[in-house]
Amino acid sequence: MSKPSLLLGQTLAYASDPFHVPIALAARHERHGAVLVSDGHIVDVGTSDALRAKYPDATRVDYGDALITAGFVDAHAHYPQTGIIASWGKRLIDWLNSYTFPEEMRFDDPAYAAQIARLYFDLTLANGTTTVASYCTIHPESVEAFFVEAQRRGVRAVAGKTCMDRNAPDGLCDTPQTAYDQSKALLQRWHGVDRLSYAITPRFSPTSTPDQLSAMGALWAEHPDCLMQTHLSEQTDEVAWVADLFPTARDYLDTYESHGLLGPGGMYGHAIYLTERERARLKEVDAALIHCPTSNTFIGSGLFDMQGLKAAGQRVGLATDTGGGSSFSMLRTMAAAYEVGQLRGTPLHAAQLYWLATAGSAQALRMDDRIGNLSNGLEADLVVIDLASTPATAQRSARAGDFWQALFPTIMMGDDRAIKAVWVAGKPLP
Ligand code: GUN
Ligand code: ZN
Repeated sequence: MSKPSLLLGQTLAYASDPFHVPIALAARHERHGAVLVSDGHIVDVGTSDALRAKYPDATRVDYGDALITAGFVDAHAHYPQTGIIASWGKRLIDWLNSYTFPEEMRFDDPAYAAQIARLYFDLTLANGTTTVASYCTIHPESVEAFFVEAQRRGVRAVAGKTCMDRNAPDGLCDTPQTAYDQSKALLQRWHGVDRLSYAITPRFSPTSTPDQLSAMGALWAEHPDCLMQTHLSEQTDEVAWVADLFPTARDYLDTYESHGLLGPGGMYGHAIYLTERERARLKEVDAALIHCPTSNTFIGSGLFDMQGLKAAGQRVGLATDTGGGSSFSMLRTMAAAYEVGQLRGTPLHAAQLYWLATAGSAQALRMDDRIGNLSNGLEADLVVIDLASTPATAQRSARAGDFWQALFPTIMMGDDRAIKAVWVAGKPLP
């Protein structure tokens, strides 16, 4: 057993969901706080005075005025799109055909997949993201590369082979059977190994035949402990296309539901243009909706109804959606979620934004018993944030009247310069 570490700084933890409970009760901020970490886990959280007295022999790591929280959880990303992030001028379907599919074709090369997986983890960890749920490509090699790299770094990660058997280039199409067989083999190889989990991943209804959706549904029924990730109602053109492709479906969600792809471990990216029936069914099964705000603005998709969906009790996570999203940073993603809220007339509180990026996304991944908060027994994936990392945030936090006023400018203006340290499984990254 290695010697415990006592991290000192400001701390932020959540006792409950700040969308449902008043902020003052839901969020716990400690001006002089401490977190005791031992054997990869958080063992104690409290005030600096109390924990220094209680653990005199722990190795102290003093972060001064910086803020210690759970590491960020990115609930929806496409690591293979790292190389085409911020590509100009297209909306969803044209963007997929012009930029995304040509790039994803390259992942049949294991060396290229490994190179991008390395780059992707470098970028996300530098931004304080300690868990990601990523799509891979059609190629098993791309899943292999992602999990090998995640395992090497000891991070908790979720991923799956992105299945498609129509409306994509030949080189990116499998079949219902190969999608099933390859997904199953990868699942059996990686699910539950170290900190890794497999997510069954049909890309979205336009690129899967009903037979392929059924095959994915059958695989999920055989492995209900796996997550299932896909896209839902991102753009109006896409919703209309789905209605054409599935003329008997009641709505977009029904194209998943009728093939066994609606359930509690389902994670539905975007979910902007939902009907009342879809909302009711998603709530009923307690599926997760993933808000991807930088993507929804960048690709021109629309404004997610955070306030309405949270008020209805939906499970909601927050995500970059790299590379439809225009950033690797969950700070920037929180900022975009704030801006989208403003455009809908419902500004989100800093406590709600930060909750979404940590505990909320952990709930969406059904991993809130392991990650996403500062709480005894959780895994010690932590980020340390400098609330004065640039002249702009420094002058702003200096005049803040309370903690939230000090944090909010870094949410809005912060980037990887604000990430002072990252701990993964109880160890600081070099
Ligand atoms: N819908 C289907 N595939 C994708 C993708 O790669 N990115 C986004 N933003 N939407 C999608
Ligand atoms: Zn996506």
